[in-house]
Amino acid sequence: MNSRAKLKILHERDLVDKVCVVIGTRPGIIMFSPILRALHCSKIKYFIIHTGQHYSYNMDKKFFEDLNLPEPEYKLENVKDFYLHGEQTAGMLKGIEKILVKEKPKITLVGGDANTNLAGALAARKLHIRVGHVEAGERSGDWRMPEEHNRIIIDHISEYLFATNKKAKENLILDNIKGKIFITGNPIVDAAYQNLKIARSKSQVLEKMKLKSDEYILMTLHREENVDNVENLRCVFKGLSLICKDIRKKIIFLAHPRTVKRINEFGLNNILRPIHCLQIEEPVGYLDFLNLLVHSSLVMTDSGGVQQESCILKIPCVTLRDNTEWIETLEISANILVGVSPKKILEGTTIMLRSGRMWDNPFGDGFSAKKIVNIIENDITMKGDKT
Ligand code: UD1
Ligand code: UDP
Repeated sequence: MNSRAKLKILHERDLVDKVCVVIGTRPGIIMFSPILRALHCSKIKYFIIHTGQHYSYNMDKKFFEDLNLPEPEYKLENVKDFYLHGEQTAGMLKGIEKILVKEKPKITLVGGDANTNLAGALAARKLHIRVGHVEAGERSGDWRMPEEHNRIIIDHISEYLFATNKKAKENLILDNIKGKIFITGNPIVDAAYQNLKIARSKSQVLEKMKLKSDEYILMTLHREENVDNVENLRCVFKGLSLICKDIRKKIIFLAHPRTVKRINEFGLNNILRPIHCLQIEEPVGYLDFLNLLVHSSLVMTDSGGVQQESCILKIPCVTLRDNTEWIETLEISANILVGVSPKKILEGTTIMLRSGRMWDNPFGDGFSAKKIVNIIENDITMKGDKT
């Protein structure tokens, strides 16, 4: 019999010079696309774990195709069967831990605030593998949001905090975070800049949806606080019907699968049908999304990523939330918060349609991925500071 106890943690000497990238949701795939490209061009060995949190073709595989990304080395099974936050996170944590024990990477990278990222960060932390958090330091101050819990926990257990800008760094300092903070910008800017030209030339979504530039408002809606609450959903739809009466624009609603499910469960289709300017569409891939966004008059959303992308691409944004982690977009008048009040939705839309679009992008210069990969490369090859 083996006299040595099986270790539950890994020691520095056990770790191999490679990086693990954990992805699993639509925004994570987009955010990591430029980082994967930069890793590919570096000397760093890396592998991808896909948690399977998002699994429908148009929430997952389509993004790998659009962004020309390699197949993940590992894909967790059955995560879609878990419903509660705890069981979903635990299921992914268990699956990721097993792979990390086998692969023993020096660093695990997670990005953003979804349960996938919490699971990845926790799995690595428990094994004493260093964690890098891309998009660290964002805070909405809204403790109802699962994403707010995730961000805060991940930041506290990360060694490398890749902050979008000075505001995010200040949040991390205020929270007394132990890891090392680097202002790198946000790779969502890199992704938008790298793909916009391709999207403009390749995407035929406007023709497919029979749309003309500047004749429509683009809308996405999926936040738990909004769509799992029948009253909030009703209010948003009431807001849409006010817009239809007042503003001569179509509304193109790219309906997230969660939202579609809730609309059906709550029996709200009869409220939607009479909203004559509303065109409900399935979620589209990244290239079609960028193309739809740049040709829209305005975007209405509760998405974190869409608030950023609209700001980056100079499209005015109306946010269907009472708060945002992206307060810099409010400060430069690229975005307005309207919550779910129908009156405020109409007022906010009217105001933002008059926007002069004079702001500068506060999220980075489009070279964030390179900066992040350089930092990791220095550390892995022991050239730079050890955290
Ligand atoms: C998750 C993230 C959220 C992020 C969003 C991006 C958490 C807590 N939430 O929310 O921060 O903004 O992803 O879109 O991690 N579904 C499908 N197919 C899919 C994915 C989901 O049908 O590919 C349906 C399922 O019914 C599922 C529901 O949507 O139960 C919710 O999915 P889930 O991944 O739990 O949360 P999201 O709302 O997508
Ligand atoms: N997106 C897309 N197709 C869609 C809706 C969104 O490609 O139909 C992209 C868009 O670039 C957005 C990203 O998916 O920034 C993130 O998605 P989501 O809003 O689901 O997540 P969040 O950013 O709120 O976490």
